[in-house]
Amino acid sequence: MNISDQLAAVILAAGQGTRMNSQRPKVLHKLGSKPMLGHVMDTVTAAGVRQMFVVTGFRGELVAEYVGARARCVPQPNLLGTGDAVWQVNAEPFMQRGDTHVLVIYGDTPLITPQTVAALIEEHRRSNSLCTLLSAVVPDPTGYGRIIRDERGKITAIVEEQDAQPIQKAIQEVNVGAYVFKAQELFAAIQGLKPANVKKEYYLTDVIAVFARNAYPISHVRTEDVDEMLGINSRAGLVKAFAIYRRRIIEKIIAGGVTVVDPHTTYIDDEVRIGQDTVIYPLTVIERDVEIGQGCAIGPFCHVRAGCRIADNVSIGNFAEINRSAIGKGTRIKHQSYIGDAQIAAAVNIGAGTIIANYDGKNKHKTVIETGAFIGTGTILVAPVKIGKAAVTGAGAVVPKNKKVEDHQVVVGIPARLLRKNEGPDSCKKS
Ligand code: UD1
Ligand code: MG
Repeated sequence: MNISDQLAAVILAAGQGTRMNSQRPKVLHKLGSKPMLGHVMDTVTAAGVRQMFVVTGFRGELVAEYVGARARCVPQPNLLGTGDAVWQVNAEPFMQRGDTHVLVIYGDTPLITPQTVAALIEEHRRSNSLCTLLSAVVPDPTGYGRIIRDERGKITAIVEEQDAQPIQKAIQEVNVGAYVFKAQELFAAIQGLKPANVKKEYYLTDVIAVFARNAYPISHVRTEDVDEMLGINSRAGLVKAFAIYRRRIIEKIIAGGVTVVDPHTTYIDDEVRIGQDTVIYPLTVIERDVEIGQGCAIGPFCHVRAGCRIADNVSIGNFAEINRSAIGKGTRIKHQSYIGDAQIAAAVNIGAGTIIANYDGKNKHKTVIETGAFIGTGTILVAPVKIGKAAVTGAGAVVPKNKKVEDHQVVVGIPARLLRKNEGPDSCKKS
């Protein structure tokens, strides 16, 4: 492959995934907050491939809706196998150019890393091969295509599990399902495929034997990380992949100077940034795109939902749920609270059992709590509501909607009414 040659990715996502036992296409099942297909598309993009095709089939409209404008969807009318799936893309003019290479990757291998895909492309370029495939040596190769080599170690074929002889089944080097091919030779080989196998499918993997027979150069990259090659064909496979995915994220977070007391019961999603010396206590769930500052204490038993922003030195404790909110420096939300659609400033104390009633059955409303406010135990804030600087609500107060509690005011009761006004910035007592 020359430096000026074009590279496109073809992601196979047409299969029903019978073994998932689901109404949804397999590749739309989520690993963390993203469908498997989303992980594969992100990986391909991060590896530097700009042009992407996604082959759709079973409930293809759902897959196309998810893909949106990120890739061109190509329908596979009948699901006749992985070779037939790639063949559908041959109608695209881009594929017919003489200088096009194709990265084929399966939508059910979401743990392959961008580094591995980039290494595969790099090896294809370096070796000037017509096919470069990704292999892995695994302790249990069951279910995967086995890589067949001749006595000199040259790759001659891939044999699928159902078609393998007992002696071939013992081979531990397997096909991961990511390859780079020169497009014209690939499509010529697919055209000649026969469904002469147990499943009566057109196997993409049979192309390897065609290339070997034509003496086309075939290279490979072997991944050392056996986790990343996992192909997900069942819900049990998804559970296994999720455990690996979660461990990878937590290892990265820990390396960044965060203490995760019990990784086994901590769920942290992708795209979460956590500052140094923050401690995450057990049974905590932190969703995607959350930012947490330095020196915070989060959990045990708390749920920080997607998109929240938590500043430095914040404490969020038992049974607190924080949703679409920003929490200022040094603020404490230590026990049994729901904080939704709120902008909470620094040094605020949220008493045990405080609930923000942000949803009126139709719309969600905002709450603003300013610096140094003290929200008494069991307060209900019916949004939209604003609590001023160093203002105080008494235990069990219900602050009705559209109420503005002014700076330093102390309000109590149901509905909350003014009790007095505290003087000075330090008059608000902290527990
Ligand atoms: C496939 C490989 C196997 C490899 C394994 C890695 C083939 C024949 N076998 O087996 O060598 O070790 O992946 O995980 O390629 N798909 C379509 N259209 C079809 C059939 C499948 O788009 O007609 C898609 C599926 O949605 C899936 C991918 O291709 O994303 C792979 O298909 P799957 O049925 O999972 O193949 P495996 O049995 O896992
Ligand atoms: Mg599979």
